[in-house]
Amino acid sequence: MRRSYLVFGRPGFGPEERAEVLDTIDSGWVGTGPKTHRFEREFAAYLGARHCVALNSGTAALHLAVLAAGIGPGDEVIVPAMTFCATANAVVHAGARPVFADVDPDTMNIDCADVRRRLTRRTKALLPVHLHGRPCDMDGLRALADERGLLVIADAAHAIEAVSKGQRAGRLADLTCFSFYVTKNLTTVEGGMLAASRRDWADRAKILASHGMSEDAWARFSDRGYKHYAVVQPGFKYRMTDLQASFGLHQLRRLEANLRLRERLWGLYDRGLAGLPLRLPTPPQPGARHARHIYAVRLTPEARLSRDELMAALHRQRIGTGVHYTALHLQPYYRRACGCKPGDLPQAEAIGETTLSLPLSAALSERDVRDVIRAVRLCLLGPQRQQGPRRLRPRRRRA
Ligand SMILES: Cc1ncc(COP(=O)(O)O)c(C=O)c1O
Repeated sequence: MRRSYLVFGRPGFGPEERAEVLDTIDSGWVGTGPKTHRFEREFAAYLGARHCVALNSGTAALHLAVLAAGIGPGDEVIVPAMTFCATANAVVHAGARPVFADVDPDTMNIDCADVRRRLTRRTKALLPVHLHGRPCDMDGLRALADERGLLVIADAAHAIEAVSKGQRAGRLADLTCFSFYVTKNLTTVEGGMLAASRRDWADRAKILASHGMSEDAWARFSDRGYKHYAVVQPGFKYRMTDLQASFGLHQLRRLEANLRLRERLWGLYDRGLAGLPLRLPTPPQPGARHARHIYAVRLTPEARLSRDELMAALHRQRIGTGVHYTALHLQPYYRRACGCKPGDLPQAEAIGETTLSLPLSAALSERDVRDVIRAVRLCLLGPQRQQGPRRLRPRRRRA
């Protein structure tokens, strides 16, 4: 058993982040300012996005995306039932109604055929989620959106590095939302980004993120001299700070190298967990690059433990795990607000009961991942049959 607890989603920082944070503190300006604006430009260049607005969370990005797109009371937005609550909450906060669609059992991403069944006259947008880092079937969704005159807003909280048919995540939808929460592939501790394909959406989001004021704080207080502002609508306080951007600038530079590290760890999991009563993540679809954010497995009916029992057993082995996610439409609020009940979205519900996520981050060593594999094997097979991945190789060949 491990001596130290393996925390789920450990972030990886280097001396560059440390130096940048200290530089920001010493600069005398830690709020929204030049480093935030630089981070917006560099992130947009990485994504190939037209306009980027740095925010204080992915949740803020989702909320502003829905508002900037002009969605409000009386409108419906289709969201997958297999996602974090922030995706649907953003629609509710805009005064619109989320309509849940089921997901594909292999990719766990929103199922285009089910989306089509849920369209009504009130549908204004589709809000797919590139779950765990796997890009959705954007061709299918775009075709549907074009046919019905709908917008596509993507929740790419897991998928900064995702590519589909040569297009990076920032160009796959009309508006795209990213999260820089602590467990994410790029973290600013808390933070988010909105990528918009239209300047007026980005401008609207910027104003809404700063109380509805026409000038942000850097524009008002910088060395260019004080400027008055006008409150043009009641907004929110959603801006990123230069302290957060100090992390982001350097996290962005390590993004591709970190992806390669996680790809290697992903491969170790794939090999080490083969043959267990687990359904492992399906390989990326042709022409797609998976951002390898979350390694989620599903227990098959042959497993002798339930998902929660396996998580508890792994915890006793000093391994932290997560659930991404339980079906959102069955959460108490959405049962009440949308009248959802068990059986409505069977694929999302089945995934929600059987899935768990194993630790995956660029801060993990191969040894950490081997510890997880050993612990999973021990929990699922028992001490007699538990073997390390190396010992298992000959047995697999004989089979
Ligand atoms: C799929 C998904 N959407 C939205 C969010 C919200 O992002 P944040 O935590 O930065 O507000 C998260 C964050 O965990 C997420 O995983």
